Amino acid sequence: MEGWKMGGMGSRRLDGRIALVTGATYGIGFAAAERFALEGATVVLADIKGHDISARTLAERGLYVHAMTLDVTDDRSVTETVDEIVTRFGRIDILVNNAAISAELTPEPFEQQSIDDWRRVYEVNVLGMFRMCRAVSPHMRAARSGRIINLTSGTAFKGAPGMLHYIASKGAIISMTRSLATEFGPDNVTVNAVSPGMTMTESVVAAGHFSGALEQFAVGSRILKRPAAADDVANAIYFFASDDGGFVTGQILAADGGALFH
Ligand SMILES: NC(=O)c1ccc[n+]([C@@H]2O[C@H](COP(=O)([O-])OP(=O)(O)OC[C@H]3O[C@@H](n4cnc5c(N)ncnc54)[C@H](O)[C@@H]3O)[C@@H](O)[C@H]2O)c1
Repeated sequence: MEGWKMGGMGSRRLDGRIALVTGATYGIGFAAAERFALEGATVVLADIKGHDISARTLAERGLYVHAMTLDVTDDRSVTETVDEIVTRFGRIDILVNNAAISAELTPEPFEQQSIDDWRRVYEVNVLGMFRMCRAVSPHMRAARSGRIINLTSGTAFKGAPGMLHYIASKGAIISMTRSLATEFGPDNVTVNAVSPGMTMTESVVAAGHFSGALEQFAVGSRILKRPAAADDVANAIYFFASDDGGFVTGQILAADGGALFH
């Protein structure tokens, strides 16, 4: 674990909390990690690549962050990451299950998607979340406290062509969020999900096929007619992690400018 510590800030709303954000190198994960750190949390940015550089950019601004290599498809990597955090910091208060295969997927008719494509998407997006929740469970249950926040997607409510495996995986996240809330509830661990609409993160912009007409369509379908930024979603994630969200569990919060009601 590589860490940088720069203190000296006043009291903030997540002071003393230990947070783990998966897939935190870019986009929504990075924005959530930044928000937590600005609120005083100690934040572990965990990803398969690029997390050292991302953590350093936050540390250079005086935030208390750590970078850890994590592959959510690997049982051992997941267990070692969580164990190392608990060994080093004594507990884990907040888990954000953000890591996913998403914008890198090329939209194509479902008949052209292979079983291997489906397995790859499910391995990261669904089983990755399961592994992470299983790994933090004994620690959060023992502490009788914890916040788990998952990332689903507006497409899971509306459907969309060309991304059947991804959309199915995000539908699974909704069902898992609700069921896990019932399992964790007796130990005072909340489980919620945030549902973004199309959000112009680095990977979405780089993918190209979501820009132009598709982005205009997304903006046009919202009550609040503007593009969404990673911070718009991070603010909703922060709510579930904060004391203000302490009596909310099993919920799906759409951070999409009012594109859908559910
Ligand atoms: N951006 C959007 O338009 C949008 C819309 C709806 C939902 N979402 C969801 O929000 C989340 C973040 O979206 P984003 O656009 O910021 O994504 P992103 O692609 O920018 O970030 C995903 C991160 O996950 C990491 N990752 C991939 N496989 C991993 C693995 N096996 N182990 C650990 N990390 C891994 C990647 O390296 C990357 O840093 C995702 O769950 C996505 O499905 C995004």
